[in-house]
Amino acid sequence: MKKLTAQQLREMYLKFFESKGHKIIPSASLIPENDPSVLFTTAGMHPLVPYLLGEKHPAGTRLTDVQKCVRTGDIDEVGDLSHLTFFEMLGNWSLGDYFNEEAISWSYEFLTGKDYLAIPVEDLAVTVFAGDEDAPRDVSSFEKWKSCGIPEDRIFFLPKKNNWWIAGKTGPCGPDTEMFIDRGQPKCSENCDPSCDCGKYLEIWNNVFMQFYKNEDGSYSKLKQKNVDTGMGLERTLCILNGVESVYDTELFDTAKAKIEELTGTHYGDSPEVTKAYRIILDHVRTATFMIGDTKGIVPSNVDQGYVLRRLIRRAVRYGRQLELPAKSLSAIAACYVDKYAYYYDELAVNKEKIYSELDKEEEKFSKTLVDGLKEFNKVVTHIQGATFPGKTAFRLYDTFGFPLEITEELAKENGFTVDVEGYNNAFAEHQKKSSVGSEQKFKGGLADTSEQTARLHTATHLMQAALKKVLSPDVSQKGSNITVERLRFDFNFDRPMTAEEIAEVEKLVNEAIAADVPVTMEEMTVNEAKASGAVGVFDSKYGEKVKVYTMGGFSKEICGGPHASHTGELGHFKIVKEQSSSAGIRRIKAVLE
Ligand code: ALA
Repeated sequence: MKKLTAQQLREMYLKFFESKGHKIIPSASLIPENDPSVLFTTAGMHPLVPYLLGEKHPAGTRLTDVQKCVRTGDIDEVGDLSHLTFFEMLGNWSLGDYFNEEAISWSYEFLTGKDYLAIPVEDLAVTVFAGDEDAPRDVSSFEKWKSCGIPEDRIFFLPKKNNWWIAGKTGPCGPDTEMFIDRGQPKCSENCDPSCDCGKYLEIWNNVFMQFYKNEDGSYSKLKQKNVDTGMGLERTLCILNGVESVYDTELFDTAKAKIEELTGTHYGDSPEVTKAYRIILDHVRTATFMIGDTKGIVPSNVDQGYVLRRLIRRAVRYGRQLELPAKSLSAIAACYVDKYAYYYDELAVNKEKIYSELDKEEEKFSKTLVDGLKEFNKVVTHIQGATFPGKTAFRLYDTFGFPLEITEELAKENGFTVDVEGYNNAFAEHQKKSSVGSEQKFKGGLADTSEQTARLHTATHLMQAALKKVLSPDVSQKGSNITVERLRFDFNFDRPMTAEEIAEVEKLVNEAIAADVPVTMEEMTVNEAKASGAVGVFDSKYGEKVKVYTMGGFSKEICGGPHASHTGELGHFKIVKEQSSSAGIRRIKAVLE
């Protein structure tokens, strides 16, 4: 096996696939383009979905890249050997070009070739799709692996649960073949195979043969073209190649780790608690650095990506306290990452001052309330009877001391309590109602009231947004909205005035949807499910919270929280009364229901 640095691995991968006719494309932003329904890019394929579905990519049909990704679903697991909230994914794509046989032979060559990773064949195991009613057993991938030199007894047929890849609930998907390092230890049981999490097998790479689209009703349709989507986690692969125990022992973290040691006088590995705190700080500061330093950089806030960022920074501050990290340490740690990564991600160098100042600001803000909040926490726990930490108190800690729910949950757990999350959510909702910044107002820019007429205008806004996307461009989306009983006002990105024909066409589409008198239905789902269902919209999702998706027949599907009419037929006649510029690149429409 070859010991490599991160940059050597990136270059080796990209050059290898370049030699196989792939074009190297840069990493897309961490914040998805034109897709407000998902917070972050979670896999290399995410920015490429339109091309997997058949759109032409300007760079051709064979692509390779290193994509920045963020996944915060397992944030609670960060601190163990392998979980990270930020990671880089090496990938190669066929957009209707080559298929499984070429993909497998190149994977094999890259993994085992002496000029590449040089992993001994006997250390590899692979899995292929076992087949079911939706797609056949992947015999051709099995045969291909065999012909490459993987012995039959190290090729495992596994079911959909293990060998089928899809991002979310619906969308492009297909059977996959996964590659594992067999660490050589004995099987944990007779049934131990690569799907077992005993630690014998470590996944290193996934090749997805994307040829289906999963529909909302659970059925599968064939895609226009057969694609290949692959993903190799950079950190995990470095860990394996260099024979270190954890991703945190790779060179990616060495300078940041040394910085924490220098700042605190502690040592990574001093005790399990200290190691966990190090890993959480190392992970969260790195992710925050990439989020703030992104080309579409974000700053801490109470909504959307900004809230995820805020939670990461605050959690790092809390664990920093455990190690007695002095003030402004997070920016000092971030500087290590800027130095480490800027040669590949130059946006970090460009934005470094912003990264440091945002980290300092947020650290300072939270440090002030953290001490008082902890005092308050310690006071209240002494009075709690039973094992439940009241949701209302958790909300007060959030509202007064800025404790994200999971910090309270962790503190509660350390003290033997479980937080009543439902109570927390109720207290949150109650507070929003009281302060009359209901969720609908927060993200719709304000509904003046919840009267029936306002609800009708709000419903018409959904139809209008859908119509604007159809008539002008799918890239058009809401940039602001204000609704009173008299009229709706809607801001959206578009770089020129609409023509009279376009205005008439939007009116016609909305009035057709009204004439169809379809019911307005609501479904609650997670952000990912909403995204997968094709819903559009800006959303205000707290971590783990569900969002409401409103559907009006085939006309509109949008993430929303406001009051709506029950049928489109209730709306009356829709008319645009004004279309004007609002600010650079933003147009404003005023419309009424007559
Ligand atoms: N899209 C596949 C994954 O993320 C390659 O594992």
